[in-house]
Amino acid sequence: MTPDDFSFLAQMVRRRAGLVLTEKKLHLIESRLSTVMRRFGFRSTDALVKELRHGRETLARAVTEVLTTNESSFFRDRAAFEAFRERVLPRLIEARAETKRLRIWSAACAAGQEAYSIAMLLDDLKLQAQGWSIDLIATDLSAEMIARSEEGLYSHFEVQRGLAIRRLVAHFSQEGGSWRIHENLRRMVSFHQFNLLDSYGWLDDLDAVFCRNVLIYFDQKTKASVLDKIAEMLTPDGALVLGNSEAVTGLSTAFVPVDRAPNTYAKTKTIAQRLAS
Ligand SMILES: C[S@@+](CC[C@H](N)C(=O)[O-])C[C@H]1O[C@@H](n2cnc3c(N)ncnc32)[C@H](O)[C@@H]1O
Repeated sequence: MTPDDFSFLAQMVRRRAGLVLTEKKLHLIESRLSTVMRRFGFRSTDALVKELRHGRETLARAVTEVLTTNESSFFRDRAAFEAFRERVLPRLIEARAETKRLRIWSAACAAGQEAYSIAMLLDDLKLQAQGWSIDLIATDLSAEMIARSEEGLYSHFEVQRGLAIRRLVAHFSQEGGSWRIHENLRRMVSFHQFNLLDSYGWLDDLDAVFCRNVLIYFDQKTKASVLDKIAEMLTPDGALVLGNSEAVTGLSTAFVPVDRAPNTYAKTKTIAQRLAS
């Protein structure tokens, strides 16, 4: 790929999805682009970029999606999920005892493992049987990832990563060499295609937001803007859970880290202390 074509591609992906491409990863980028080239019938990256320069929307979308990293696993970073189960959820349930309503967002859900991990924790508590209304919303930029999430079908390798055998047995059925998530968990989650650069208006009143392992791909300005928009949508006593290599330092003053809850943030010191206690 010529430096000029790379620069065009990098700018396009940054504008469309906030993703930062570096020339160090050119080999990986070219290999990912090859699947789009096959799909759209291009023989060279030159031809592909030429068509992108003409502003072909379906192609631009496909290229952006294929350049995202969709790596995920069930209960990824166990300590963060343990903290959510032991500290955040009990406090939220106590605080929402009157309304009996919980609204949780998995903001870059990849193939759905994160959302289904949260669904499993909620299912353990049998809240719906006690009259609770649970909104578990999961979104991703990639239409392909949303389709996979909705399908809820995982390979043996995918369920082996992070999922305890008892959860595999309780929540999945084997289909050939794959594992399908049970319908009751499927129905707990509503999946939507959504770009984190867009407006969050429909995502108001959230009690918890999982925005994990996606900020790492954004530039500083985009990270800060996403964090600020999440803060606006989060209830005053809500919690934000980031990925292991993500933090709010230097990006947002809207969040306070919660002690003894890895990767977890509250909106005020008081709430952070309550969650830590
Ligand atoms: C590495 S995965 C993280 C999955 C999961 N949150 C986890 O921690 O395991 C990153 C996901 O972010 C999505 N993504 C990238 N840019 C995005 C954007 N601008 N808006 C929404 N999702 C985006 C990708 O499609 C990908 O599925």
